[in-house]
This record gives sequence, structure tokens and C-alpha cells, in this order.
Amino acid sequence: EGNKLWGGRFVGNTDPIMEKFNASIAYDQRMWEADIKGSKAYVKALQKAGLVTQNEMEQILTGLDKVFDEWSKGEFKIKPGDEDIHTANERRLKEFIGDPAGKLHTGRSRNDQVATDTRLWLRDAINTLKELALQLISTMVERAAVHAVALSRDVERLEDIRKHVNVMPLGSGAIAGNPFNIDRELLRQELKFDSISINSMDATGQRDFVAEFLFWASMCITHLSKMAEDLILYSTKEFSFITLTDAYSTGSSLMPQKKNADSLELIRSKAGRVFGRCAGFLMTLKGLPSTYNKDLQEDKEAMFDTYDTVHAVLQVTTGVISTLKVNQPAMEGALSPDMLATDLAYHLVRKGMPFREAHSCAGKAVYIAESKNIHLSQITVEDLQTVSPLFDKDVSSVWDYNRSVEQYSAPGGTARSSITAQIEHFRTWLQAQ
Ligand code: ARG
Repeated sequence: EGNKLWGGRFVGNTDPIMEKFNASIAYDQRMWEADIKGSKAYVKALQKAGLVTQNEMEQILTGLDKVFDEWSKGEFKIKPGDEDIHTANERRLKEFIGDPAGKLHTGRSRNDQVATDTRLWLRDAINTLKELALQLISTMVERAAVHAVALSRDVERLEDIRKHVNVMPLGSGAIAGNPFNIDRELLRQELKFDSISINSMDATGQRDFVAEFLFWASMCITHLSKMAEDLILYSTKEFSFITLTDAYSTGSSLMPQKKNADSLELIRSKAGRVFGRCAGFLMTLKGLPSTYNKDLQEDKEAMFDTYDTVHAVLQVTTGVISTLKVNQPAMEGALSPDMLATDLAYHLVRKGMPFREAHSCAGKAVYIAESKNIHLSQITVEDLQTVSPLFDKDVSSVWDYNRSVEQYSAPGGTARSSITAQIEHFRTWLQAQ
């Protein structure tokens, strides 16, 4: 066990099954850059605290740059015994520079290291997801897709959780803090965190920020799943309101005529996957005692998988929305005068009738049309007058879909002027992001 970071007190070997079970390198290697960044900051703080010499610091920094180079060129070789990214980077550093590498971890624990790396990684991930969400919103706005409204809240929520992510745990050690009077403010500046964590036991033992990210993703993907469901229905042969381009459709291996909305069905399905990650990780957190427990290592797969899923979904959705064809004649063909029953009631309201009474009169008119098996617009004025004497031949003005839409001119409504104002609102909002 001589090559383990923690091997000193062990005489027995780790069972290979346990070795594999314990290791997180397979997935946490994604944080290689954050880990090196954190170590470069930490060695500077060690030097300031007098724990490494200027020369040792320079050796460590140069060595870390070499490790960085290997990762960025895809040449880093993970070896058996590289338990996690922290272990792997330190092992490689030692191979490059020898003994001074052993000073890097002074006063540091993987507990404050991993919490720091995860926050650095998520901070960048949030930036990427924000950019992709903004591209999608701008595509939606130009196509007047209502789902842009919910997505804009998601972007604002992402900004809110950034505040909780951007707090630095480094200098908390394993549990009790740092005994070498490390300058945490220097570390904060080096790593560009907004603030430093308040309490070492809390900082190493909490993953609220991961849970918040998983909830954020759940909410965002709920909006996209809802959109997908709308569009799947509209793309069915029966509706034919929209047509997906070939680029975002697939075929059937059996039915030659089929064009499947697989892009949308997958977007809808991924919501279940993300909820599972969120709920699963909350289960992991529930019942944990204070401070670091290895259970917390489970945060990574939940976070990475959720990130990858949302990352893909945002891009595919942008592709689908920007390329889909709207079939205006089919949509117009689906209009039916019965949809104007509310307008019939408003017609009476505008003649002075209380709305409750007008609603009832319009309902009676619907009944007449149904019993005569005709459209609401086909009822004679005489028949309408049996319902209310306020009906007159000017009722014909009600049977106009355009007029119906245009009456909703208050802010937020469906009138052309309102929709234009909403689109303008989002164009301005996008500029400010
Ligand atoms: N790989 C571990 C993680 O991701 C690092 C922390 C190890 N700490 C420990 N007490 N075993 O959480």
C-alpha cells in the first residue's frame, strides 16, 4: 500500500473489488483543469505562509504546468492506483519533480480540494449552459415561441445559483480548517471566488450547490419537455401544424412512410433522466451526518450526467425550433367558430350585460347550435334573440378570428401589438445578458 496517499497506517491490501468501487477517477478526471488550477493557487499560499520555499514553489508550478500539458494534449496516462483526479495529478507531479511534490498537500485535504474543484468546474459549466440557453431563447423569440418566457426564468435562476457555487471551501482542510495560517483571501483572489466559506465543517460536508444545480436542470428540462410535447402533437399527421426538418427526424425500419419526431421524443424523455439524478442525489444527502462522508463522491456522476444531458438538449432544441416549418393553412383549417363562444359572451358584455349572465347566454347559444348540429356562427339572429334580446344582426362581427385575437391587446395578450411588444421585451432582455 506504499503508493497510496493514505497508506501509512495500513498493512493489508485493498481488495481489488473495493479498489474499483472506491475509485472515482473514471469520471472525476473531467475536473483535471480545475484541480490543477486549485493546486497552483494553493502552492502560492503555501509559499506565502513559509511552508515551501520560492524555489520549491516554482518547481511545483512548473511541474503542474507539465501535468496540465499532458491532460490538454490527451496524453495523461491514468495508472492503477490513481484513485481520483487529485491522487492522479499529485502522483504525476511527483514523477515530474520528485520530493517537493510531497509538500503541495500541506494543510490541505481532498475534502476541501474536491469541494473546490467541483465548484470551479460547475462555475464554468454554468457559463456554457447559459450561453446555450441564450441561443435557444433567441431562436425561440425570433419564432415567437412562447416557451422562451420560461427559459428566460431558467437563465435568471442560473445566475442565482452561481452565487452559491462561487464560494471557496479551500483552506477548510479535512474538517477542522487550516492549521498553517494559510491566506484564504489570497486563495480566493487567485481562484476568482466571490467569497470564502464561513465554516470548515459545513464547507467540506455540504453539496447544496450541486443539489441546486440538479434542481435547476430539472426545472429547465421540464420546460423543454413541455415544449416537446406540444410540438410532437402538432407534428402528428392529424394536426400537421408543424413539420420537422429531416435533420431532426428519423425514419422507421419497418414502415417506409414514417418520419419520427425522435428529437422531440428524446428531449421529452430526458426530463425523467434528470429528475432521477436530482432525486437520487437528494436521497444520498438525506440522513448524512455533518462533515465529509464518502457518500458525497456521488455528486459527480449526477452533476456530469445532468450537465451532458442539458447541454445536448439545449442544442438539439435550438436546431429543432430554428428549422421546423409552420403550416399556416393547416392551422387556419383547424379554426372552428365554436372557439368563439367566449367572444359571443363578450359581445353581450360590451352591450352592458353582466359577464356571469353573458356566459350563461353564450352557453345556451352553444346548446342550440349543438342540438341543431350546426356551427355557433350559423345560428340565426332570431334564434339568438330567444336567448337574449340584446342580440342583433351586428353579432356577425363576432365570427372573425383575427378580430378575436386582436382584442387581447392588454400587455401579455395575443394581439399582434402585444406579441410584438413581448418580442421586443425579449430582444432587449437578451442584449442585457
Ligand atoms: N474522490 C473523493 C470525492 O470525490 C475525494 C475526497 C476523498 N476524501 C475522503 N475522505 N475519502 O469525494
